[in-house]
Amino acid sequence: MNNTVTSSNDFFAATLQDLIEYPTSGILSKVLLKDKNSQYSLFCLATGTTIDKHTSTRNAVITIIEGTGNLNLEGKDIALAPGVLVFMPANTPHAVQAQENLAFVLSLSETLPAKKEISQQTIDIVKSTAPILKQHGQKITTRMYEIMFHKHPEVKAQFDMSAQANGTQPARLATAVYSYATHIDDLKALKAMVEKIAHRHVETHVLPEEYPIVGECLLQAIKEVLGDAATEELMTAWTEAYQALAEVFINREQQLYQTTF
Ligand code: HEM
Repeated sequence: MNNTVTSSNDFFAATLQDLIEYPTSGILSKVLLKDKNSQYSLFCLATGTTIDKHTSTRNAVITIIEGTGNLNLEGKDIALAPGVLVFMPANTPHAVQAQENLAFVLSLSETLPAKKEISQQTIDIVKSTAPILKQHGQKITTRMYEIMFHKHPEVKAQFDMSAQANGTQPARLATAVYSYATHIDDLKALKAMVEKIAHRHVETHVLPEEYPIVGECLLQAIKEVLGDAATEELMTAWTEAYQALAEVFINREQQLYQTTF
């Protein structure tokens, strides 16, 4: 289903029970209303469905319409039954389990923070590094994964280690970083790439809090591989650029997690 029932310009009244539709397994979701500040969606979970632990960058309220289940909020279990309303502050880890067909409305509030503009100086510096990234990209990303798996072995389980061993994953990351350096001022050109990566990230359960880990390791690898060419100016520009790219992924993945919730 995943369709929007109405736009914020239209008057809208509905009996939620009439909109409920359970899949034979898994989840069906329907956006009831979306405007620039909030989004209201109806989620229908088939008996036995679980939604693994994840977070939302927006404040959220869930209101149970029918069925029973369990919400684990920061490790605390909350019994879900008709009429129960739970407020979840942004970034609170939570997981859901439907003991029987479970329907609830998820209301997301608070607009995501306005995107910070990348400075022209950063754009110029990052674009000027594109040729070096083309030349040394795979060396940088191979080193980046080495650093990350050593410093943060807990993330290893998310990766296909054969794609590491044969170099395909470092090559894909190098292409992504190079493409970003080339199109940092024209993100529309990267839309297809961002979509593909974001879907893969959602499949492998990448979380917003993991972005600083990748950022730290990538920047360290850039510094090591480029040596003297990694001036303070270049490192500052790439720090800002990485944060902006991470924000693009985090926001897109957040939307995907919400619709596949
Ligand atoms: C701006 C930062 C990032 C970029 C540019 C990036 C880029 C990529 C690319 C290009 C792929 C391959 C997609 C495909 O074609 O299948 C990928 C996959 C993946 N990324 Fe990221 N990524 C970033 C951040 C992260 C973070 C923070 C994590 C969390 C640890 C992560 C974990 C993964 C995993 C687990 C895969 C699947 C790899 C596999 O199949 O072995 N990425 N990423």
